[in-house]
Amino acid sequence: MLRACYTAAELVDYRRAAEDTAILVYRPLEECVGPEPGQFYMLHVPGVEAIPLSVYDSTGEGLGFLVKTRGPTTRLLVEKPPRRVGLLGPLGRPLPPPPPGRRALLLAGGVGVAPLAFYAKRHPSRLLYGVRSARYYVDVGVDDVLVASDDGSVGVRGTVVDLFEGLPDPDRYAPIIVAGPTPMLCAAYRALRRLGLLDGSILVLEEYVRCGLGFCGDCIVPGTRLRLCREGPGVDASRLHGWYSARCP
Ligand SMILES: Cc1cc2nc3c(=O)[nH]c(=O)nc-3n(C[C@H](O)[C@H](O)[C@H](O)COP(=O)(O)OP(=O)(O)OC[C@H]3O[C@@H](n4cnc5c(N)ncnc54)[C@H](O)[C@@H]3O)c2cc1C
Ligand code: FES
Repeated sequence: MLRACYTAAELVDYRRAAEDTAILVYRPLEECVGPEPGQFYMLHVPGVEAIPLSVYDSTGEGLGFLVKTRGPTTRLLVEKPPRRVGLLGPLGRPLPPPPPGRRALLLAGGVGVAPLAFYAKRHPSRLLYGVRSARYYVDVGVDDVLVASDDGSVGVRGTVVDLFEGLPDPDRYAPIIVAGPTPMLCAAYRALRRLGLLDGSILVLEEYVRCGLGFCGDCIVPGTRLRLCREGPGVDASRLHGWYSARCP
């Protein structure tokens, strides 16, 4: 039986996808169980540290990651990815598929598009994708996608939450899943609450992940007993009242 990966992996593809952003494909040296949309890996950069990265794609070629520069480790991955890394995963809870006959509605901000593009490749979905400007836009190869940018340089001018609020019938989709930076998650939470759609919606959260295995407790979601690395990173929005109070000014 295939098990989770705890293995070295080698770089088999690398390309710049947008400003400060790259797609990296690593092939595990061992055959491991494949990831489901919403799961992530701890990617160990030798001599540096291990960081959590969502799965952007998974094919016979290897595991795809979409990485955006935030600090030293992500900069190294984007600019000069190591030939070999360590991979631990897949970790976390998969995102639920839509019920039969329904489509999911996916709201992605920036690099939050990584897990949602993978989801859209596996499940019937409509993707709403917001970026700061065309320089940060990644063509994620999904058919049903509406794009918004802060400056109007790609798609319509505005945010992904504006796109969502402009939909005539958001309740026809299930589930609604949101992934992106915390300020965007806060704005989406407010919109979902106003529309009475917190039940049936999921927020893919950003919290600091250290062990990734559920034993250090560093990734507890504020206001809950949930560990982001085990019970998340996707969490039912109806359970996030305490998180909202702690994280959204
Ligand atoms: C479940 C999960 C999935 C993620 N998926 C992706 C992805 O697909 N693509 C992508 O580009 N980024 C993803 N991230 C964020 C990525 O892990 C951080 O950008 C990275 O750890 C930053 O490391 P750094 O050394 O470059 O920057 P640092 O200077 O160390 O940190 C920059 C900022 O990144 C955040 N961060 C740092 N370390 C961690 C950590 N261990 N866990 C969580 N956040 C951290 C903090 O907010 C910090 O202020 C994900 C995070 C989580 C928790
Ligand atoms: S990161 Fe250690 S419990 Fe989640």
